[in-house]
Amino acid sequence: MLVLGIETSCDETAASIVKDGQQILSNVIYSQVKTHTPYGGVVPELASREHLLKIRPIVDQAFVDAGVTLDEMDGIAATCGPGLIGSLLVGLTYAKALAFSKQKPLAAVNHIEGHIYSVSFEHPNVDFPSLALVVSGGHTNLFWVESETGDFRHLRYKLVGKTRDDAAGEAYDKVAKLLGLPYPGGPVIDRLAKNGNRDAIPFSIAKISDRSLDFSFSGIKTAVLRMVKENEKLKEDPHRLDLVAGFQEAVVNMLWSTTFKAVNLLHPRSIMLSGGVAANSRLREIFSERTRESGLQFCYPKPIFTTDNAAMIAAAGTARLMRGETAPIDVNADPNLRLAVSDRNFSDKRWRT
Ligand code: KG4
Ligand code: ZN
Repeated sequence: MLVLGIETSCDETAASIVKDGQQILSNVIYSQVKTHTPYGGVVPELASREHLLKIRPIVDQAFVDAGVTLDEMDGIAATCGPGLIGSLLVGLTYAKALAFSKQKPLAAVNHIEGHIYSVSFEHPNVDFPSLALVVSGGHTNLFWVESETGDFRHLRYKLVGKTRDDAAGEAYDKVAKLLGLPYPGGPVIDRLAKNGNRDAIPFSIAKISDRSLDFSFSGIKTAVLRMVKENEKLKEDPHRLDLVAGFQEAVVNMLWSTTFKAVNLLHPRSIMLSGGVAANSRLREIFSERTRESGLQFCYPKPIFTTDNAAMIAAAGTARLMRGETAPIDVNADPNLRLAVSDRNFSDKRWRT
């Protein structure tokens, strides 16, 4: 089964051809980062305009790289939300036009579900049920994931935890901006933190009630703001290195401590880590160590599949198409699309057992 995936939910124009949801024949990503860097974040209007310019050459390139044609596709999958509405519409409308003109089945894919499927290329055999932590610039969500089929063909999700304020990647990007570092801040802070002492500047982590599986990052971000205001020297190296190392440690601890709370509560067999922040070296290190200690399988994608890409959309779309879940040609983009509703009763029930 050959599927073309298209992703344009934020600032990457991406297209990919995937065979049987598993074998990546091509994976083309055009990043708009240069366009948005001067503004320290994504400018929605500029993003949609650039998607318009790039969508056609990027999709064409995906066919050239894969050595296949549109006629050979068994289906077309595109991200329909969540994301920036103007950006989403470019990729989804292009996919709809291709599907309509060639009479191909269309799959409308949730971007967050795509991130979860990004794990499936490296780890086709995840031990379900699993806890999926999706950490990106726009989202920090913890899902309970069950499989109907024991593999990635048919997953079911329950949202058990989410950020109450900033997304983890958003906190990285805002702290970077504050310290005069370029956008996106995550990779830069990750690199600089390696040369800092993570214990030099202590951060106290916001305590969320014992029963909650929610995250919070704005306190950690505000702590950086306050420290810098009180001591301008922290904006300069070598102090800045210690500051970003301490900040990163606090973020990673917040992510692990809440995930571990969920592990004790829900007893999954594995942890799946995905989204842009999943590329973070300290996060991977801590999660690797701690999951090993807890006897859990730990699954995460190669760095190229942590940030937004279309291979993950093609993989999630393939599963949908195989289940016969095709989208109507008038399917619309939804900037606030949810993957699963928050299910308090679910975690409460497990809490008692
Ligand atoms: O998944 P993604 O490409 O886009 C969204 O769906 O949001 O994630 C982008 C986010 C940015 O906030 C970026 O700073 C962060 O992922 N990021 C990282 C790292 N690489 C990217 N954060 C921490 N450490 C990294 N190595
Ligand atoms: Zn994303």
